[in-house]
Amino acid sequence: MLFPPTTRTGPCTRIELATRDDGFPVVFWAGLDDGRDVSGNAFPLLPNGPGMPLLGEHAHRLYTRPHLRGHRVVAGADVVATGQGWSTRFVQDSLDLSDTRLTVTASDADAGLELVAEFESLAGGALRGRCTVSNTAPGSYLVTGLEVVLPVADHHVEALDFTGRHERERTPQRHSVTDGLWLRESRGGRPGLGAATMVVLGTPNFSPTQGEVLGVHVAWSGDSILRVERDAATGATVGGGELLQPGEVCLAQGESYATPWVFFAAADDGLDGLAAVWHAYQRSLDAHPGTQPVVLNVWEAVYFDHDLDRLRGIADRAARVGVERFVLDDGWFRHRRDDTAGLGDWWVDEEVWPDGLTPLVDHVRSLGLEFGLWFEPEMVNPDSDLYRSHPDWILSSGPRVPLLQRNQLVLDLSRPEVRDYLFERVSAILSAHPVDYVKWDHNRDLLEAGTARRFGAPAVHEQTVGFYTLLDALRAAHPDIAWESCASGGGRVDLGVLERVQRVWTSDMTDALARQQIQRWTTQLLAPEYVGAHVSSRTSHTTGRTLPLDFRAATALFGSFGIEWDLMTASDEELDRLADWVARHRRFRGLLHSGRVVRPDSSDPAVQLHGVVAADRRQALVAHVQLDESAHNRGVAVRVPGLDPAATYRLTWEGPADPTAVSASSPLPLEGPTQGREVLGQSLATHGFWMPRRRPETVTLVHLESAGAP
Ligand code: DGJ
Repeated sequence: MLFPPTTRTGPCTRIELATRDDGFPVVFWAGLDDGRDVSGNAFPLLPNGPGMPLLGEHAHRLYTRPHLRGHRVVAGADVVATGQGWSTRFVQDSLDLSDTRLTVTASDADAGLELVAEFESLAGGALRGRCTVSNTAPGSYLVTGLEVVLPVADHHVEALDFTGRHERERTPQRHSVTDGLWLRESRGGRPGLGAATMVVLGTPNFSPTQGEVLGVHVAWSGDSILRVERDAATGATVGGGELLQPGEVCLAQGESYATPWVFFAAADDGLDGLAAVWHAYQRSLDAHPGTQPVVLNVWEAVYFDHDLDRLRGIADRAARVGVERFVLDDGWFRHRRDDTAGLGDWWVDEEVWPDGLTPLVDHVRSLGLEFGLWFEPEMVNPDSDLYRSHPDWILSSGPRVPLLQRNQLVLDLSRPEVRDYLFERVSAILSAHPVDYVKWDHNRDLLEAGTARRFGAPAVHEQTVGFYTLLDALRAAHPDIAWESCASGGGRVDLGVLERVQRVWTSDMTDALARQQIQRWTTQLLAPEYVGAHVSSRTSHTTGRTLPLDFRAATALFGSFGIEWDLMTASDEELDRLADWVARHRRFRGLLHSGRVVRPDSSDPAVQLHGVVAADRRQALVAHVQLDESAHNRGVAVRVPGLDPAATYRLTWEGPADPTAVSASSPLPLEGPTQGREVLGQSLATHGFWMPRRRPETVTLVHLESAGAP
């Protein structure tokens, strides 16, 4: 049996199932499929052969990590019995298959449990699965873990995932699939700056341009697990779920626990093919932003130093260069003169803003710009009125106050009164002003995150649900507002939050050279329109490196373009040049925010190539990024995959405006013979066009536009 069934045409991520002797479904294959129905023929189910039951259990001689882990807790008169029900052997009760949904229900009467396993086939071709366990017997059932796991094709022997830190999110790391359990856990109550983001398994040396791959992602904004496992008796499997802390999920009779959705996406054309599947799914979401306005965020311009006249001046200059949305960042609310105080006191600061935010908002809007505002609702500073009146509202494992991080603690969003307070305060500000956009920040990891409601027991699961509940309530109350997910930069990037927000702040690293890497790998999951990318000041506040304006702007161009630079310090010439880049972004954003991301191979380690090919393949914009000095003078061939092989494309120099900025020597092919040349799509895919060596820290943009069939 195939899911999705072959009525879904075209390539998509499929699973193929057979039934075990007792009728329970076993998935014996997961991957990209074009709908050939080979059910029942390809692989017999052998004890050590391919395949993994929809729920892997110890009772069936699987010595790998059980997918459901838990046990009963039964309190008698003077004794508490634990441990029963730990080894389940579910039998299938029903199986429902439709074009887009597979639902299997199963039960274990001895353990007093029911299980529902669901899979959905999604727009773009990905698949997602989740499991729900219910306690049907008297007493409690303590869930310690439940994961959605699928088998991995035997020839997928390499793995990729990501790690990182503040200002360096999503650094790729590679390893082989070996025997044993490989586990990535996020335990900070948010995916985190070092989030795995996804694990990708594939054929040897898979890369952006080649290889069969299967990517797995847990759509959850709290603690999560990604797992790959293989042992001497069992083929490799991959999956994930929520990381549950001790005692977090204890089901009374009649209660259920559902895992987050775990996403699986397969491609046979490398990591770019995989990215295209994720992007297509995001573009199908109700919350998808469409294309994005150009943003100016004042954080790096003024930090906490808010001054109405200065901000009005920045807004004037923002309007002059073509910005469409002005965002007032941290520092506008009571007592918030630095990061030691004020979080939780969501009233406009009366000293700094004696007439409230209205004079600034009116000014911004009179310039024709949207207005955006920063919040960090989940946090509280000990030095705040909120903490002084409700010290018991924080997450903690008991009377001990958790260690501070950025001088702040985390509010307990599992408590309705805390959510009510935050809803009322945030909503009051949003209702008092015409706010178009909220940047929702989260600047620390959760630590000892227990709730007083349950005497300090862990509450990360409830906190994550509480975050979604609060955000959803605010979205419903303010349906026209666009929301951005920020967590010290890109610490909350996942498909759970993406159902709710329109943008992500990718990283606090605003140095364009470092940003090239962060954005390149963030688009492995996120479509470019989500990837907040800002032009910052000449000399980076984060690295101290000075980079040319063209390089900074061309780096921001492909994402959700914005400015972080204090425009009061920009010269007229710089403002004009920046206005050109804003105009260029506005001209190309329809393409950039709907097309397919490509990251062609570069033979030169000093050069990185990336671009976007239009969905209808009629045009593409390609960036040659000269990161560093090349060791030779050969230049590189820029091959562009994904064009119409039969169409011819006209190549046009798109920037920087001054070719001498990227090269001291001449004549150069692109400015000379290549400019205006018409080349067949097939030739561009196989041979590419030649790009000479450039000066380091330069981006050269080439626009390819279909001139029709030859
Ligand atoms: C962290 C964010 O990533 C920054 O952009 C800025 O909003 C600061 N927080 C404000 O505190």
